[in-house]
Amino acid sequence: MTASKRIVLSSDHAAIQHRQAVAAHIAAQGWEVVDIGPTTAESTHYPKHGEAAARRVASGDCQLGIILCGTGQGIMMAANKVKGIRCGVCTDTFSARMIREHNDANMLSLGARVVGEGLALDIVDAFLAARFEGGRHATRVEMIKALDG
Ligand code: RB5
Repeated sequence: MTASKRIVLSSDHAAIQHRQAVAAHIAAQGWEVVDIGPTTAESTHYPKHGEAAARRVASGDCQLGIILCGTGQGIMMAANKVKGIRCGVCTDTFSARMIREHNDANMLSLGARVVGEGLALDIVDAFLAARFEGGRHATRVEMIKALDG
């Protein structure tokens, strides 16, 4: 297993089943899954889970991250506050491909109350299969990075 196949997963209470389905799905593809929970359905606060996953990616411990909450929105907002993180919420496979090809996203966010498990797994596949195109997109991603301060 190479370091480039290591991915962090996290969610809040609203997305535990989806997260576990994603974990099993990508582990079967050879990814080393770092699932940082939570493991119970007890109500929790999505910002801390988004931040924890984002720090794993920002530090280089994991190449990519997938985070989930009810809508995917709140946990995405928290993750994007961490320097170096480019995370998008996706409800379709086209966007999941494009956020890597054009935006060099290093995290994907999913809404468990928005997309069913089957679609969520297709979105994950599209995200993981895509590669950053560079070129003119690199200039734009550098402009995003500059906003990190
Ligand atoms: C939890 O009820 C819900 O607010 C959360 O999962 C998420 O949708 C927030 O963006």
